[in-house]
Parts: sequence; structure tokens; C-alpha cells
Amino acid sequence: MERRLIAVRAWNDLVEGLVYGGDYNPEQWPQDVWDEDIALMQEAGVNLVSLAIFSWATLEPNEGEFHWEWLDTIVEKLHAGGIKIALATATASPPPWLTHRHPEMLPQHADGTVLHQGGRQSYAPTSPVYLQYAAQMATRMAQRYASHPAVALWHIDNEIGCHVPEDFSDNAVPAFRAWLAERYGTVEALNDAWGTAFWSQRYGTFDDVLPPRTAPTYANPTQQLDFKRFSSDAGLAYFQALRQAVLAVNPGVPVTTNFMCNTGNRGMDYFGWADAVDVVANDHYTRAHDEERHIELAFSADLTRGVAHGAPWLLMEHSTSAVNWQHVNRAKGAGEMLRDSLDHVARGADGAMFFQWRASRAGAEKFHSGMVPHAGTDTQLWRNTVELGRCLRALAPVRGTRVVSRAALVFDYHAWWALELDSHPNNTLAYADLVLEWYKALWYEGIGVDIVTPAADLTGYDLVLAPNLYLTDTAAADNLAGVVRRGGVFATTWFSGIVDAADHIHLGGYPGAFRDLLGVRVEEFSPLQAGQSVGVRLGDVDTVGVRWSEDVQLRGAQVRGVITDGPLAGAAVVTEHEVGEGHAWYVATDLPLDAKRSLVRTWADQAGVAPVQPGLPAGVEAVRRIGDGAGYLFVFNHTDEAARLTASGTDLLTGTVHGAPWELPAGAVAVLREDAGA
Ligand code: GLA
Repeated sequence: MERRLIAVRAWNDLVEGLVYGGDYNPEQWPQDVWDEDIALMQEAGVNLVSLAIFSWATLEPNEGEFHWEWLDTIVEKLHAGGIKIALATATASPPPWLTHRHPEMLPQHADGTVLHQGGRQSYAPTSPVYLQYAAQMATRMAQRYASHPAVALWHIDNEIGCHVPEDFSDNAVPAFRAWLAERYGTVEALNDAWGTAFWSQRYGTFDDVLPPRTAPTYANPTQQLDFKRFSSDAGLAYFQALRQAVLAVNPGVPVTTNFMCNTGNRGMDYFGWADAVDVVANDHYTRAHDEERHIELAFSADLTRGVAHGAPWLLMEHSTSAVNWQHVNRAKGAGEMLRDSLDHVARGADGAMFFQWRASRAGAEKFHSGMVPHAGTDTQLWRNTVELGRCLRALAPVRGTRVVSRAALVFDYHAWWALELDSHPNNTLAYADLVLEWYKALWYEGIGVDIVTPAADLTGYDLVLAPNLYLTDTAAADNLAGVVRRGGVFATTWFSGIVDAADHIHLGGYPGAFRDLLGVRVEEFSPLQAGQSVGVRLGDVDTVGVRWSEDVQLRGAQVRGVITDGPLAGAAVVTEHEVGEGHAWYVATDLPLDAKRSLVRTWADQAGVAPVQPGLPAGVEAVRRIGDGAGYLFVFNHTDEAARLTASGTDLLTGTVHGAPWELPAGAVAVLREDAGA
């Protein structure tokens, strides 16, 4: 990324304390609602709104015909009301005249299906014509509002790649070829990387290469993997082009866009995007069907902090209650919105924002909750909105503080893409869900973790887990082995260390990249069918393994668990390899949560890593932010009963000083300022 020559102020310099607000779409409402909006925002303590994300067609309903008055008016009203603006480039959805006039800019699926106008995001990020129009629009927005004192932050486009993570249209063809030429230099190098000797796929020139469009059978796996890498980079290049357009006019203002760091969005490698934004901003929505949705939320927040290299970040969107886009959209229960918002804050967010300010009365998202619901302000939801504003103001001291962990969980988008390619031993695997299961084990054991890439600096961690890291190049494997060399504990699981960055097998026996470190060797996999399991004896506990089994041969490791039935009865399934002072563990099947928890306990003890707050009742979660000589312990009671706690400090939310044992009511949150620090 090009360096910025002008000093950029911090993204939250213009607001006091933590950020609070949401997407504001005033163009959906008559102007007489706007004054009420501002008054209500003030009542709730809103200090930042995202404006004009989907405004292009309102601003320019016909080519060259601009209607700025309404946006000028609301910008001034917000400014007069003391509310700052994250101003969008208005490009997240091209106007109908543009797609109609230039249908060549429309994106396509792998099978050639054209994604037409009528929803949103109907553009190919590599379309030269779209890029020209979008950059012009971003420039116009910047010219009109550059240096306006209410503009705190620029918001480029919106959730880039959300609906179209990969575009297979003709727009992508020259861009993909150029990306490949840059990556490989010569077509011979591409042929080597893609293994094109297989199935007569050898290319004589880059000009014959296409995106991996729907083919009679499996497309070349490395072509597929590279197209995912390319698509992430193409989204980033689109972001950069709009960012440059804005910065050319308005250089000192911080710039961001909203990421989707969660277990369901694998389109963009956000670790690769992070340096391009002045603050990492994330959108997160809980999963209605998931009883443990608060743990997936915690994972998402920790992942976002990992993407931000540990720095404070911004929760750009979540929901006050139901969304509209899941199968059955669930309203949040009592206290849930507060718990959700503050859990993001606990895990490093310096603000909490929502989609959206006022629930829409028309359009595809009219059943999506907002901060102001359809029923108005005489509602529990509005009271929750006001109460959250109060809590965030009370939490101003946590701004800028950080979460510190001695355990790390490895997560990698390239490994995600590669593990879920087709033609694998077990084609039912979902990488993020597999990692999430280990995260849950850590969560239930109260162990705080940072989520990092395999190439991250791991020197601060005594315990590192890398589940199902199918794609691991040798440099990453060596980096992970460094944890063990330094006397720490490293654990990995089945189907890890199998291929390099080109998706070529590490030969000589599985798991090639980790074989020596783990002191094991595997000749063949024996994946398990759905519903099939193997008995496992782990220590003195009988449990089961699902999804996977294999005949683990020992090459220096010691057996800590064995398969007890079936053709592999007697084979090692959990092993520990002692290397100097360090320990390298291998788990060769998918174990139930209880067994994962017991392993996590063993590993944490071995590594000397303690829970964030030892001795908490089950279902009570603790996260600590640290800074300025103080610790801020966030405690969440996810149970239906009051929890008895011994943690001491002053609750910033209530002012209560807790010394002797005290009770945290069912569903409640407390944030204790621990004066001595942690
Ligand atoms: C995303 C988008 C918003 C809205 C919400 C709905 O976060 O950025 O525009 O569609 O989803 O949940």
C-alpha cells in the first residue's frame, strides 16, 4: 500500500469515549422525520452515524443529474446536533441507469449466470467502466464534503465482496491473467504450481488462462485456490482505488470499510486487507439457530482483534434484535443486545454501531431490527438503545486499552479456502466450524486467546493451537515449531500440514509439514462416514471420534489416547512429542467438546496459561482489557441464574464497589475496574 504523506488523525479523535451509533439512511424517510432522528440520537448518546452507503441513485438518479441538497441538509443537521459522520462513497449499489447503460459491468457466477440490477452490489470489482464511475462518485463525495468538520471517517463502499466474493465475468479475465503473471512470472512456473501435467491442462501462454468457470468435472484445485486469492486481492484493489480517490481530495481523514470477520464469510482474506484501513471495522450478526451464538460472537470479535494486530477496532454493524436474512429470524432476548454489544467491546472494540438507526418501512430489509423500531420509542427496544448508550458512556475509560493473551488460535483464510476445495478424503468439512469447536473448548475453560495467522509473530504465546491447518507451507510450519523450540505447547489436529501453498502434497507420509515436530507418521487416511464413529480412550475416559481416523505410527511421540474399536483398534489417536522443554500434540480424530476441553486443560496447565478469571461458575464469561495501570474485567452471565462471583473492583456500569463475594444477576454484565491492574 502506498504510504500516506499527510498525518492522519486517529479514527475516533472527533468523538469522546467509545463510539455509538449506526447506519443512517435518511433518504428512506420524509424530511420531517430527520429532526426527530437527531433528537433521538442525542437522547441515546449516539455520536457517530454511517451515512450515504446506498445513496448513489438518490444523489444521481440520472447520469450527470445531481441532487446534493438533501445530503447537505442532513450533514448540517447532524453537525448542529453534535453527531459525527462516517461518510460513505455511496458506491455500494450502482444506480439502475449505470447497469442498464453498461451491462458489461455486471458480475457473473461460475456457470455464467449474470447478477442483474435489482438487489445490490451488482458490479464486477474489476470492471474498468464501473471502476471509472465509482471512483468518480467517490471523488465527488470527497469534493463536496472534504474537510467538513462533522466528517470523522470515510467508509469505502460496503462489505466489499459480501454478495459477490468471486466474479467470473469477462471483467475478471484480464485481471486474473495479470495477477497470475505477477505471481508466477512465467507460464512454466504457473504450470508447475497448478500441476497442469495432470489431465492435459498445460498452458502455453497466460492468455489461455480463464477463471475456474463451471467445468465438466473438478476444476484444477490450484486454479480454484488462486482464483480465491485473486478475488480477495481484486476486492482490495477496488477498495484501494476508491480510497485513493477520496484521499486525493481529503488526505488527512481516516479511511475504513466494514469487514465480515466471522465463521460464515470466507470471501476476503482480512489479514491481508488490514493494513489498508486506518481502523479495522467489523460487522457481526449472531446465528439464530445456534444455542452457543454468544461463543461464535466471541470468536468473531477475537478474530477481528487478530486482524487488527491487537489494536482497538470498531464494531461497525450488528443488530439490536432480529435480522431478516436467516431462515427463521429470532428476536434477541432480555439483556442480549447489551451483552452482545459489550462482548465486542470486551474483546477490543472501541465502539458499537448497528445496522441500522431506524428500521425501514419498505425494501428487502424492512423486517430487520433497528435502533428505532417500527413500533416507535415507547418500546423495550428503544429503552435498550438508550440504556446501551448510557453504558458505553460509562465505559469511556476502556477506550484504547487492550486484551492480552498468552494463548493463540491459528486461523488462516488460505487454509480455509484450500481445505474446502473438492476431491478430498472427506468432503463434508467446514474449516471455520472445526476451528470454532476448539475455540469453544477454550471459551468454556475460560482461556483467553488471540486469533492469529500461521505466519504471525508467536513469541508472546506459550500455548498455540492450529486445528485442521490443511495448507501449511514450510515457513509457517517452522514458525509454529518455534513455539515448541521455545519450550511452549503446540497442538494440531487431523488433516493439518498436508499441502503447501500451491496445494501440493508434502511427501513422505502425513502430516508432512508437521511430521517431525509431532513425532508421528501416517500412511493413509480412514475418514468416517456421517453417523460413523470410533471408540477412543483418552487417559482414563472413554469417548468417541468422528469425521476422521488414521493409523498413526509413532516416530518419537508418546501415546496419550488410543482407538478402542474397529479396524484401527489399538492405534494412537492423541499423541504428545516432547522436544526439549516443549511439547507438540497431535489429535488424529474429531473429539466431542468434553474431550477437547480436557485436552485444552492439560495443554494450558502444561504451558502455565491460566484462565482469565479462575473459578467462575459455568456459563459465566470473563474478558479483561488492560491499559493505563488498570484492568477492566468484563463479566457476562449467560445463564438463567444469578452467579456468585469473587472478582473485585468497581463496576463502571453501576458504580457498585465489589469486594466480598457478590451476585451477578442472570443475563447481566458487569465491568469491573481493577485498580491494581491485572
Ligand atoms: C450487512 C450490510 C447492511 C445490512 C445488514 C443486514 O451488514 O452491511 O447494509 O444489509 O447486513 O444485516
